Amino acid sequence: MCRLCAQILPEEAFAEKVLDIINGAAINQMLSLGHQSGLFDTLAGLEPATSEAIAERAGLNERYVREWLGAMVVSGILVYDPDAALYHLPPSHAAFLTRDASPNNLAVVAQFMPMLGTVEGGILECFRKGGGLRYEEYPGFHRVMAEDSGQSVVMNLFSHILPLVDGLDARLRDGIEVLDLGCGSGRALIAMAQRYPASRFVGYDLSHEAVGNARGEADRLQLGNIEFAVRDVSRLDDRDRFDLVTAFDAIHDQARPERVLAVVNEALKVDGVFLMVDIAASSRLENNVGHPLAPTLYAISCMHCMSVSLGQGGRGLGTVWGRELALSMLQEAGFGRTEVHQLEHDIQNYYYVNRKA
Ligand SMILES: C[S@@+](CC[C@H](N)C(=O)[O-])C[C@H]1O[C@@H](n2cnc3c(N)ncnc32)[C@H](O)[C@@H]1O
Repeated sequence: MCRLCAQILPEEAFAEKVLDIINGAAINQMLSLGHQSGLFDTLAGLEPATSEAIAERAGLNERYVREWLGAMVVSGILVYDPDAALYHLPPSHAAFLTRDASPNNLAVVAQFMPMLGTVEGGILECFRKGGGLRYEEYPGFHRVMAEDSGQSVVMNLFSHILPLVDGLDARLRDGIEVLDLGCGSGRALIAMAQRYPASRFVGYDLSHEAVGNARGEADRLQLGNIEFAVRDVSRLDDRDRFDLVTAFDAIHDQARPERVLAVVNEALKVDGVFLMVDIAASSRLENNVGHPLAPTLYAISCMHCMSVSLGQGGRGLGTVWGRELALSMLQEAGFGRTEVHQLEHDIQNYYYVNRKA
């Protein structure tokens, strides 16, 4: 059979697949609502209950809650006793859908597509005319991003991520200079500043909203060893200043990623380390078929990461720029040594540990 023919499904199987996709998207929207409304957390604390009892406990409108409960039952998220009209979230399901389940709370991730759906009209215009959207056009982006990295990055930072760099914990304890670029709401940097009071931390981001959130939290915690600023990291002109630069999911959506990698190299001290966490995928489309998150990654790229880069007249690398391209760009930027790690808890990212020589 020819290479293309081998990928074609029989008609009926294809139609079923498309229906499954449509239902999946609908359930995803309901998962996002269940998380934001607190319904999953409410259900996890309840024995099997009626819609009235659930709505009352959650402080929500019963009619909306009942319709949502229906969606959850028919999609197999909740179980249902029709005789007593009782709904229940089994603990084995709650383990992936509640705030207590963090870092395994998949309902956090379910928020991305509904949030990105709010800009569908603008993206459609970009399909017609090219260009892209601005970060500020995505309501809720920084909230969802902070929640997501709060569980995928921050909860694993000290146990799994920082130990990837030999001796880093000791250096941070002694006191070093750290920059987090594209820091968003600053959760990772704030966690480091709390743990390592002898080190000094700087976070830069383009977004006023994100930097405002980060500053607010740092002030609330009365941290004296951290500062945040609105800055375009492609315009940094520091030389030999930092011992550690981190970028958590913040390179692939840059307008000028090659420039950012080069300025990071210049900003690092000679024995400095650049820890770049970015999407685990291949630069070759055919290698990403079967990747457990590939459809989500390409969709997020189309709706956000590629678009915000193109919107600044940038390169539009896309979320799925992949390991092969990342490695060659890191080398071109002057990094002489790169190790790539994957962590068991995280199927979404590669961890690139880069040194100058
Ligand atoms: C995908 S978010 C990641 C945020 C954060 N690191 C996290 O893990 O939650 C990428 C961030 O990079 C920021 N960003 C993009 N280009 C930038 C630039 N040239 N200078 C500074 N920040 C930039 C965006 O505003 C956004 O907050």
